[in-house]
Amino acid sequence: MPTLYSPNCSYSVYYSRLATSSSSSLSGCQHRITVSSIPKRLHSQNVSFESPRNHRRNVVRMQGGEVAATASLPANETPMTTFKDELLKIKSSEEFKDVAGFDFKEEPTVSITVVGASGDLAKKKIFPALFALYYEDCLPKHFTVFGYARSKMTDAEFRDMVNKTLTCRIDKRENCSEKMDQFLKRCFYHSGQYDSEENFADLDKKLKEHEGGRVSNRLYYLSIPPNIFIDAVRCASSSASSTNGWTRVIVEKPFGRDSESSAALTRELKHYLEEDQIFRIDHYLGKELVENLSVLRFSNLIFEPLWSRQYIRNVQLIFSEDFGTEGRGGYFDHYGIIRDVLQNHLLQILALFAMETPVRLDAEDIRNEKVKVLRSMKPLQLEDLVIGQYKSHTRGGITYPSYTDDKTVPKGSLTPTFAAAALFIDNARWDGVPFLMKAGKALHTKRAEIRVQFRHVPGNLYSKSLGTDLDQATNELVIRVQPDEAVYLKINNKVPGLGMRLDNSHLNLHYAARYSKEIPCAYERLLLDAIEGERRLFIRSDELDAAWELFTPVLKEVEDKKIIPEYYPYGSRGPVGAHYLAARYNVRWGDLCI
Ligand code: BG6
Repeated sequence: MPTLYSPNCSYSVYYSRLATSSSSSLSGCQHRITVSSIPKRLHSQNVSFESPRNHRRNVVRMQGGEVAATASLPANETPMTTFKDELLKIKSSEEFKDVAGFDFKEEPTVSITVVGASGDLAKKKIFPALFALYYEDCLPKHFTVFGYARSKMTDAEFRDMVNKTLTCRIDKRENCSEKMDQFLKRCFYHSGQYDSEENFADLDKKLKEHEGGRVSNRLYYLSIPPNIFIDAVRCASSSASSTNGWTRVIVEKPFGRDSESSAALTRELKHYLEEDQIFRIDHYLGKELVENLSVLRFSNLIFEPLWSRQYIRNVQLIFSEDFGTEGRGGYFDHYGIIRDVLQNHLLQILALFAMETPVRLDAEDIRNEKVKVLRSMKPLQLEDLVIGQYKSHTRGGITYPSYTDDKTVPKGSLTPTFAAAALFIDNARWDGVPFLMKAGKALHTKRAEIRVQFRHVPGNLYSKSLGTDLDQATNELVIRVQPDEAVYLKINNKVPGLGMRLDNSHLNLHYAARYSKEIPCAYERLLLDAIEGERRLFIRSDELDAAWELFTPVLKEVEDKKIIPEYYPYGSRGPVGAHYLAARYNVRWGDLCI
């Protein structure tokens, strides 16, 4: 009996899942739930319910002995937190159970297994995010967290390790240590090899003990190097999948190194998992201001009409870090900044920024639009790319290392730690508008932002007052993703006084001043979405293919031709080449004009 999952209640129903063929009147994300019998008086009843987090309306239609549920999500789950209450408005639970064949069972369990539990990502991001979710009461009632890794550790040692990682935003909150103790009691450890079905079968036994016969849902977070993804997935799926609930796997980039290796990885993953079990994470999609991008655009009349080549001169996507690859050189050298940041984080933001209005806010609708944008783009050309690598620099008596000083980086490595690129979208909305990306390590500042530079005002009455540099006087919308989140719009304004002097001022939505609530970390949002089966912020395989197609040719060319990166001092503003690239398209980097 398959189960529809909700964080607060579970329903076991008899249902038959329909194929997404045209012969079906239901779309791919709808499910027909066949129930034993429905009394005449309930025929053609409609019941609406809303997903509490996303405010989407779902409709359950009962007709001729069937319940057709219009679910917002694909696969066989629907977040139906309020479903039960809505249904109870028309029937008591007992009656409804008889009527619809729903068997109200105990709430299901969710076991979250972090594979690679002693790694950096797990310690710095995943456990703190899980704890934050627990603190905020966002995790289901019955949950356990399992750490899985090769090193031997007792549960107590594991808890100790997790305890020490509590560097999250919650640690200064009320009752934090009490809550932490409660959370740690739900944490367990299992030591095993990543390619051992036997070790995963042992994990399965332990999971079952904790699940106590309830419907069991299992989430695996693969926080391990990509060369062992498939082994771990094979073992988890064959020996430690849920038999009566869902099993989902979160994978984090790198998803291959190019189109070919990425496609191979996808093929192998799909050997063991359905696409809707795979949650490919790009943590930038979980950032508050990236999530806000669509809200800004689609819920404000003042933005959407301007969102095209007619009014926008260029769009800049900027990522910079003020530290090098220290400690991660081994990983980084194999990928470089283009694969590490441009091909995923910045390109995902670009796709969200530039997509057409989706039909609805459902995952598939949004992802369909993102794929369309990516497929409308021209693959990046070598002449539209500048690469750089940081070199040692001494400032204030401190010597900062060069990239190749890192012991884990091969001597003479040409791997770029900086890249700037100009990309174009060949569609009616964006034809000719340069989308400039820039990402670098060991630069002068840590920042991620989106800058939208608007065109000049035609026949501007005030051009005399604006001076000769009209570019400085165009409107610019800045979405500062981090740090110090903000959305601000640069406008021309009259300086108060009797004269007529204009300046460029900011309409500023500064999050810290406007909202007292802390901003959740991206991993919190994404973990919660994965638990709830919300796929909107995860990357579908066709999106991934389209993203690789844009970068694979140029990556091959850079590597085959052994192109030497432009060296820039640690802590500087990056290679000068980035300015020439922008200038070719009449653009000035907005972050360097402030
Ligand atoms: C990761 C990259 O995906 O994102 C890292 O691999 C980078 O190189 C990191 O440092 C940046 O993430 P955040 O959330 O700290 O901006």
